[in-house]
Formats: sequence, structure tokens, C-alpha cells
Amino acid sequence: MQVIREIDQLRDLIGNERRLGKRIGFVPTMGNLHEGHYSLLSIAREHAELTVASIFVNPTQFGVGEDFSRYPRTPEEDRAGLSGKGCDVLYLPEQEAIYPFGLERAVKICVPELGDMLEGAKRPGHFDGVATVVARLFNLVQPDLAVFGNKDYQQLLVVRRMTRDLGFPVRIIGAPIIREANGLAMSSRNQYLDGQQRETAGVIHSTLQRMCERAVAGIETLAQIEADASASLSSAGLSPDYALFRRAEDLGAPSDRRGEDLVALIAARLGPVRLLDNQVLRR
Ligand code: PAF
Repeated sequence: MQVIREIDQLRDLIGNERRLGKRIGFVPTMGNLHEGHYSLLSIAREHAELTVASIFVNPTQFGVGEDFSRYPRTPEEDRAGLSGKGCDVLYLPEQEAIYPFGLERAVKICVPELGDMLEGAKRPGHFDGVATVVARLFNLVQPDLAVFGNKDYQQLLVVRRMTRDLGFPVRIIGAPIIREANGLAMSSRNQYLDGQQRETAGVIHSTLQRMCERAVAGIETLAQIEADASASLSSAGLSPDYALFRRAEDLGAPSDRRGEDLVALIAARLGPVRLLDNQVLRR
């Protein structure tokens, strides 16, 4: 695995590989890699002949008072892990490569509506930061395809929308959620949980499953199912921000139309962490 910090070097390497006819598969990350990230890499490897992963803890997607400075940074483990999983290139940009004019003056990309609701309402500016850094990385890496986890469902939709709207010739692939044995979706932030909290957090996945089963049964209203889901999370000791159904396509309010896929989304606080999870429901 080649580890590259300089953009000129990255461009030369990728240009040469592309001239050899290789497709470039890209997995952007913020590091502190776990099985969820490695599954993104293995999907990229199925679709591309050269895989590039990046690690960059992107300051613009963290709000004031969020965990940017203490976000777990594990460069040695990440490097060994990626290399062991067959990653070809690891790009480690400096902040200056991503934001050459500094954070205050950086051009921003925002994805209205989709980026303002749910997580965007809770964390104003978060998706501007995500859309901006992903667009910037796409320009630097120039991949043919990029893989993002379904776990951050809203992020995946924001990235898809940004990619289409700005005309990037990049295919976006959503990857299945990887879970712990008790159903907890893998996330770098899970390590802020203690053992007991990790166990408790399994209730998020079982609640999503139950929400989807009840929606399929079609006996109760979605509002009733949502209210019960929030109550189950609260009684397990979590503080839910939301447990609801939205249209899978664009997170709009669901209708009763058959054939319209839904997504059940949960965001809940447990101890020091806000946990996100979702389940898509095909109708
Ligand atoms: O999902 C993440 O790790 C980040 O939001 C991403 C897509 C790498 C952008 O910084």
C-alpha cells in the first residue's frame, strides 16, 4: 500500500493507473477504522482495480462544542488495517490541501432541504461540511466510484444529491450496515460507550426492526408506531431525538402510497454519545 500526502504525487499515480485502464474506487474516511469501514473497502475492491482510501478528520463538519479535538485518531492501526485489507493507496491530506485558503474563507457547498432536516437541524452546518469535503476529495482523487455506509443514511443521500447536482462523474455506492453481535451499528463513536451502555444500545436495532414489522403489517398508523418506538427507547434508558419514518428516496414525509419505499430512522442519545441507525423498508 502506498501512503501519499502530496496531491501532485496522488494525481500522478492515479493518472498513470487510469491510463492503464484501471477504475478507481474511493473510500473517504475520518480514520479510527473498524469492520464497517473495511466492508466499504471490500465493496470498492469488487468494483475497481485500484482502491484509494483517505483519512481526514474534517473540521468543517463538526459544530462548536462537538468532538473534533477528541475525535479518536489511530493512524498506525488504521494504516496497518488498510494495508492488511488490500487497500492500494492511502491518501492522508494535510488541512492545507483540503482548505488552501483556510477554514473561514473556504468555498462551501450546501445541499438545501436534504441537508437542513433531521441531523442537519440538530447539527447546523454539518452537511455543508460533509458535502464540501467530499466534493473537494472527489476533485483531488477523481474516482470512478465511491463507497459510503448506509448507516449514515442522510449523509449518503446528501452525497448522492451533491454528486448529481455538481455533475461529478462518480458512481456512489451505498454499503450495508455492519453490526455488533447485539445489533448495535458499528461506529467510531461507540468507543465512548462503556460495556453496559453498549449492551443497552442494542435496543436501537431491535426497535427499528419492530417499527418496520409493524409498518408492513399495516394495521397501525405510522405516527402510532413512531410514538411507541420513542417510548421503548426511553424506557431502555436512551433519550431519543427522533424515531420516525421518512421516504427512503429523499427523506420527505411518507404517504400511504404502496410502492413508496420508507426508511425508519432513529437518533438517540446514550450517555456521552448520539447514536444513529436506520432500516430501509421496501413496500
Ligand atoms: O462518514 C464519514 O466518515 C465522513 O462524514 C466523511 C464522508 C469521510 C466526510 O468527512
